[in-house]
Amino acid sequence: MPADPFVAKLNEQIANEFAAHQQYVACAVYFDGETLPQLAGFFYRQAMEERDHAMMMVQYLLDTEAPVAIPGVVAPVSGFDDVVAPIALALEQEKRVTAQINELAAVARQANDYSSEQFMQWFIKEQVEEVATMSDLLRVAQRSSDVQDIEDYVVREQSGQGDDPTAPRAAGATA
Ligand SMILES: [Fe+2]
Ligand SMILES: [Fe+2]
Repeated sequence: MPADPFVAKLNEQIANEFAAHQQYVACAVYFDGETLPQLAGFFYRQAMEERDHAMMMVQYLLDTEAPVAIPGVVAPVSGFDDVVAPIALALEQEKRVTAQINELAAVARQANDYSSEQFMQWFIKEQVEEVATMSDLLRVAQRSSDVQDIEDYVVREQSGQGDDPTAPRAAGATA
């Protein structure tokens, strides 16, 4: 079984990932309401990725016969002043999650739990990509005077990548 402090922290992280899922659903719904379908689609896809992160962590705990509890989450922010605000909030969230993921790797290492440390490696790489994606989008949004330019950028640059074959298995996923 993984080290106890890692199991406790990973259970907390499941809540953080589900909270990120809910936050991105809230961002997507805001953009959908503003009739910005590309930004809405982008955030709906990000929301699904966060849900998958949570379910990958659930699967790891199942695989290692560690205790796992499905948490409730705090309500996301769902009112925004302008189209830039949800993206700025998303970047802050990704930076916060990066710190949480790094802390999980550190806890595993301190406990000499090498399997768990290795499990965290994919998430470390994923966070580099997510912070980069969100900070690029924020920069484009901040300098665009026409929201259509942001929509066009999302079509051009963020229309979804294929499945990552190196990703850990998510609980409930069909192999
Ligand atoms: Fe995540
Ligand atoms: Fe993320």
